[in-house]
Amino acid sequence: MQNGYHQAYAAWKRDPEAFWREAAAEIDWFKPPERVFSPDDGIYGRWFAGAETNTCHNCLDRHVAAGRGSETAIIFDSAMTGEKRRFSYDEVLGEVKAIAATLLALGIGKGDRVILYMPMLPQAVFSMLACARIGAVHSVVFGGFAASELAARIDDSGARLVITASCGLEPGRVVAYKPLVDQAIELARMKPERCLVLQRPQLQAELVGGRDEDFEAAVAPYRGAELACVSVKATDPLYILYTSGTTGQPKGVVRDNGGHLVALNWSMRNIYGLKPGEVFWTASDIGWVVGHSYIVYAPLISGVTTLIFEGKPVGTPDAGAFWRVVAEHDVRVLFTAPTAFRAIRREDEDGELIARYRMPNLRALFLAGERADPETLKWAERMLAIPVIDHWWQTETGWPIAANPLGLGALPVKHGSPALPMPGYEVAVLDDAGHPIEAGTLGNIVIRLPLPPGCLPTLWHADDRFRSAYLDEFPGYYKTADAGYVDEDGYLFIMSRTDDIINCAGHRLSTGAMEEVCARHPDVAECAVIGVIDALKGQAPCGFLVLKRSVARESAAIESEVVAMIRDQIGPVAAFKTAITVNRLPKTRSGKILRGTMQKIADGIPWKMPATIDDPAILEEIAEALRKRGFGSLPM
Ligand code: COA
Ligand code: AMP
Repeated sequence: MQNGYHQAYAAWKRDPEAFWREAAAEIDWFKPPERVFSPDDGIYGRWFAGAETNTCHNCLDRHVAAGRGSETAIIFDSAMTGEKRRFSYDEVLGEVKAIAATLLALGIGKGDRVILYMPMLPQAVFSMLACARIGAVHSVVFGGFAASELAARIDDSGARLVITASCGLEPGRVVAYKPLVDQAIELARMKPERCLVLQRPQLQAELVGGRDEDFEAAVAPYRGAELACVSVKATDPLYILYTSGTTGQPKGVVRDNGGHLVALNWSMRNIYGLKPGEVFWTASDIGWVVGHSYIVYAPLISGVTTLIFEGKPVGTPDAGAFWRVVAEHDVRVLFTAPTAFRAIRREDEDGELIARYRMPNLRALFLAGERADPETLKWAERMLAIPVIDHWWQTETGWPIAANPLGLGALPVKHGSPALPMPGYEVAVLDDAGHPIEAGTLGNIVIRLPLPPGCLPTLWHADDRFRSAYLDEFPGYYKTADAGYVDEDGYLFIMSRTDDIINCAGHRLSTGAMEEVCARHPDVAECAVIGVIDALKGQAPCGFLVLKRSVARESAAIESEVVAMIRDQIGPVAAFKTAITVNRLPKTRSGKILRGTMQKIADGIPWKMPATIDDPAILEEIAEALRKRGFGSLPM
């Protein structure tokens, strides 16, 4: 059956440039695009080359100019402090202008990089927009990352300024951010010159003379200042967002201004089905791409009210937190990660807390960030009695690759599938040799080049890494590094990663980066980290350590030290709680560690002894060690 989706997809296929030209007409340009796509520019072509615009203008000024200045742009709700505030477009614009003027006074200008290490506060969003206003490039770092991860991002981006807060608030603890920033700057090879610190009442940070400045004191003199948006090229970078790669060095995903504006604006109405003035709540964090795209930019670009929530789905104070927020702020569409629903379900299986709130206007729940397991999805459908929509995308793409587009008229749901590719994306499934494979067979999911507007043009100052990580393996395609299949109706099923990335509580983590940390322990000779199934977080990391022969210490003490090292060097977000000492690691005869088989054993999935194994007894030892810790099964 044909619906709006099929028409839109066919229109895009027929004439991609006409499709995106029409979408671009909804954006304000300082210099309108003459060319939609320039195939010879950049690595695989560039969108809207030659055009000029400003993302902050499209998020704020144009709504004010259209007479919507007194309408609510941002709602802030902190379950941690009880604070609730609504900000009109006028108010947000005023604050953003003041912060932008402060940045200019600090010597930050077009093209300079600014690191933001902030909790979920309105000032974080204002600061992102202030960077956009003056053409500075922001790079937001999630608060759960440790100082050395922050230092790696400072160095790679060459940031001249850090904007931070004195603390973040996690259930039961105040996380002091400033000492982490101080340590990161200490570690960084390229020291940012200045640091703005938002002092929160829960904890006052010490300021380093000559470098640090109180955020509020710095911004106050500029309130009321007039500051126009800087015209930037559509192809200029708006932000860099670091995401896990296969090594400890994160990948700096670059987002441009023009393509991003066009794609996100298109997605808000057509995928999420939202109209200007309605409230959209993405329960994630601005440190992730979900937060960049759907807490900050897409809603503001398209005039939809966005909600910033400081809190958790459970424990702030209970598993009814989401329903309180939805009911109180009249949320129309909610977007979060499946892990949040697993957490809520664990505490409120029968939905007693859900029944306490009236949410007559909530019309859809979108899930992404990890595979939506059908059981959780069906539970959410039963409890909320609204469409629950799984959709699939990545930091690299910035907006959904596949979804069930509510705004175009929903497609039939197949549990376990994020449905069909969105206009702009031609998805294929290839075998390892690059040949298309038949429906129902698992393979490498790839996207035919060019990627649509909004997707990364490259990695920050790393064109070669971009080519080798994404383009070289399957010529003519972008490699998603996800494995899955397409069914006979074209529905996609995303099953796992093809690299060593794991997905823990919707957070993307590199087991390679964790192995690098384990290997730094002086008693560890060799190690392997794999992701094992976790009932709440989807996956959790589990490390295997082989100790040096000379080590006489208790292995339990070394395991605890390795757990502490990962928390200290990657951050609490890694959720690395299990390290297991073993005598040897299972390897192929050519010396490759058999991580895939170890993972199957740990997950209790039937496994076969690999024909290439060097010594079969080692896998049995691993199975035994895992069983002692409550994981796994014995060989079939
Ligand atoms: N600043 C400092 N520390 C942080 C942090 C932040 N912004 N965010 C998380 N942490 C810490 C947590 O306190 C926790 O520390 P702990 O080991 O001392 O408990 C650790 O990092 C892991 O955090 P998290 O992954 O959030 O696990 P959790 O057990 O605290 O909560 C969920 C589990 C499911 C409730 C939580 O992950 C959640 O709400 N997920 C929603 C989905 C989401 O936001 N996904 C993002 C992509 S869409
Ligand atoms: P991130 O870049 O952090 O957004 O993580 C992207 C990765 O998360 C993808 O490559 C997938 O492995 C996984 N992912 C995101 N959404 C989904 C989904 N709906 N279904 C399955 N996996 C998903």
